[in-house]
Amino acid sequence: MYVLSEDFTKRVRSIQPTGVRKMFDMAGGDVISFGLGEPDFQPPPIAIEEFHKAMLDGRNKYTTTAGLPELRKVIAESWSDYDSNLDENNVCMTMSGTNALFNCFMALVEEGNNVLIPEPYFPLYGPDVTLTGGEARYYPCLFENEFIPLVEDLEKLVDENTKAILYNFPSNPTGAMLSIEQRDELLNFAIKHNLWIISDEVYDRIIYDAEHVSFIGTDYDRVLLINSFSKTFAMTGWRIGYILSPNLDAMTQVIKLQYYLAACSNDGMQYAVLAAFQKASKYPEQMALEFKDRRDLICQRLNEMPGVSCHVPKGAFYVFPKVSIEGMNSEELAIELLKGGVLCSPGSAFGKSGEGHLRFAYTISKEDISKGMDKVEAVLKKLI
Ligand SMILES: Cc1ncc(COP(=O)(O)O)c(C=O)c1O
Repeated sequence: MYVLSEDFTKRVRSIQPTGVRKMFDMAGGDVISFGLGEPDFQPPPIAIEEFHKAMLDGRNKYTTTAGLPELRKVIAESWSDYDSNLDENNVCMTMSGTNALFNCFMALVEEGNNVLIPEPYFPLYGPDVTLTGGEARYYPCLFENEFIPLVEDLEKLVDENTKAILYNFPSNPTGAMLSIEQRDELLNFAIKHNLWIISDEVYDRIIYDAEHVSFIGTDYDRVLLINSFSKTFAMTGWRIGYILSPNLDAMTQVIKLQYYLAACSNDGMQYAVLAAFQKASKYPEQMALEFKDRRDLICQRLNEMPGVSCHVPKGAFYVFPKVSIEGMNSEELAIELLKGGVLCSPGSAFGKSGEGHLRFAYTISKEDISKGMDKVEAVLKKLI
């Protein structure tokens, strides 16, 4: 039966598939893929064993909405260096970072509100704000400023209807991280305008040259932290994450809402994640060591190519080089690279200020990175 698109809400019609997916769907099997952002590692073996064991032990049922208290306690403890007052009441398990983000926007945004969103961005943020009835206002994080936003740009966007600001460090797609001074400037901006901070810190354990700097552990408690085990324990397909906030009123609301979004998280899997925390706690750092070598390799190769300039990211597993080929936008360039055997994402998939860039996820072996970079170099030499 033909269904008129007007049958569907304006909300859903106003959002589009992401540009990252579009390129991915265009790619055939025989390409070197720097496309999607997921670790090429498997979850720690102990987590897989515990998941299996938990299911055999009958952990196949609903849990409380907020999730397994032991796991929430361990998560709270993992943040104790930032804030020693946190306990399980400050944590709500979710079905992923994606689910956690939607929950926070649903809890905070009313029609007429706007939310400040970084650009280039993780492509879900803006559509999430739209779906919850608000307006996404994008603040630039530019190459010239090492992808760190400037408060003067934030000041141009904020008004009395601004409800929240989303920060994402380490960043997807740029890999940028904050110093404490930069964090304090961004924090003071939020305090000055009485904004909620939604801090997406899903890459907090994939970091290289510096300590993670968080929005948790300051005196400001209008903060909702998003986190996920997708990257930390290479569990993208498991769909498990959490919301953490020092603000117990906020926790009451997000836990109440989480029931209506997903009822609860996955029973057996929460035992598996608990085991990963307790028995494979260094797993993310081990992965990060390998990612660091790959980062060095890919940045070196890119910076040697004509027309390419690339910052060395401090976290996450993406590089976001500036690539200038006259007369060609980033999508056209990504398509040329695809024809040359390499899948990457056009910078424009991450918003207007991503134009002129490409995103490469270095979630493949060093050997494949080298082969892929040979192909990129060959295409660029032909185009220049
Ligand atoms: C910045 C950022 N936030 C959140 C997520 C969502 O992660 P997940 O839904 O897999 O937990 C991702 C995934 O790529 C991401 O890059």
